[in-house]
Amino acid sequence: MSIFLVTGGAGFIGSNFVHYVLESTDHRVIVLDKLTYAGNRASLEGLPEQRVTFRQGDIADADLLDELMPQVDAVVHYAAESHNDNSLDNPRPFVDTNLLGTYALIEAARRHEVRFHHISTDEVYGDLELGAPERFIESTPYNPSSPYSSTKAGSDLLVRAWARSFGLRATISNCSNNYGPYQHVEKFIPRQITNVIDGVRPRLYGEGRNVRDWIHANDHSSAVLTILERGRVGETYLIGADGERNNKTVIEDILEIMGEPAGAYDHVVDRPGHDLRYAIDSTKLRTELGWVPQYADFRAGLEATVRWYRDNESWWRPQKAAAEAKYQVTGQ
Ligand code: NAD
Ligand code: DAU
Repeated sequence: MSIFLVTGGAGFIGSNFVHYVLESTDHRVIVLDKLTYAGNRASLEGLPEQRVTFRQGDIADADLLDELMPQVDAVVHYAAESHNDNSLDNPRPFVDTNLLGTYALIEAARRHEVRFHHISTDEVYGDLELGAPERFIESTPYNPSSPYSSTKAGSDLLVRAWARSFGLRATISNCSNNYGPYQHVEKFIPRQITNVIDGVRPRLYGEGRNVRDWIHANDHSSAVLTILERGRVGETYLIGADGERNNKTVIEDILEIMGEPAGAYDHVVDRPGHDLRYAIDSTKLRTELGWVPQYADFRAGLEATVRWYRDNESWWRPQKAAAEAKYQVTGQ
């Protein structure tokens, strides 16, 4: 039995990881989360108190980290400012949390000699051409496009340097776009589902040709747990489930699942610097560690996600008006 410090455990993927760990192992978890606009205590409701402790705080708070580190066997670092559109409006919190926050955490993990797993994104590699055979691999050069992805890239490089220079027992994973329950309604899939529930037409940036490589959040969680259990210290693993789809197709799927006409969406102004295509080759994770994704059927996963948002309006309703107000400013 291990005790994990899960930073950002009240966010989308972090909370899914906490649920996954409690359901599939006997490990215990301490969640450290600042509860920004993206954090939600309700995402952890109903979990056994004897196995999950919640601590509200900032990952940049060194004193708090000195208190928590001696209590844990490993840090699983999800906390971040995570939304590209927000980073275009105001990059500062991205620098503070993603760069300086990660710096504070790896320094604390170094002081206390705690195993560290850093959660990152495929966006650090930039984008790929549409229709090309190339996919990202672990040695693809970094080439981030947005303030968000550049701060994630910087945080990856800090972790790599701390592993090499100071012997920090660290691993890194870079995952593609996640979907599933507990995702904030600012993000593409939940935004469109909740728009349809509200009788508002989905909003497609530009022509919607941009491709994302979708993976269910539970598959991301199983991959991270696999890396924590069997990953080689100092290594990076790419996580993906062969889920490439363009945004137009995803909106049309959502409309069909929700019983709306195929063309019932609006094209809106595109995202500046909008990455064209992400695609992950996860051969290393699969062959070296034997990881296999369980949610191969994107359509079935999307249907389950639509059901979850229909059934859990009390979870997302408090976020919705503020998220849409931000988009009104840019006309998106
Ligand atoms: P999210 O925005 O839903 O959640 C982020 C969480 O971090 C929130 O609970 C927030 O309160 C917390 N947080 C923010 N700043 C903090 C701080 N300074 N101290 C403590 N807590 C803080 O994000 P997400 O989509 O769940 O992403 C989680 C991680 O996974 C991020 O590191 C992100 O880069 C990475 N990632 C996300 C995706 C995706 O598709 N969403 C894909 C690959 C990697
Ligand atoms: O690839 C991993 C990344 O995936 C993570 O690192 C990020 O944290 C996560 O937010 C996500 O980034 P994206 O920018 O790809 O996700 P987002 O949900 O914002 O948008 C997905 C695609 O949908 C993107 O091409 C932009 C488009 N989009 C988005 C919104 C919100 C629309 O067409 N309409 C919308 O309303």
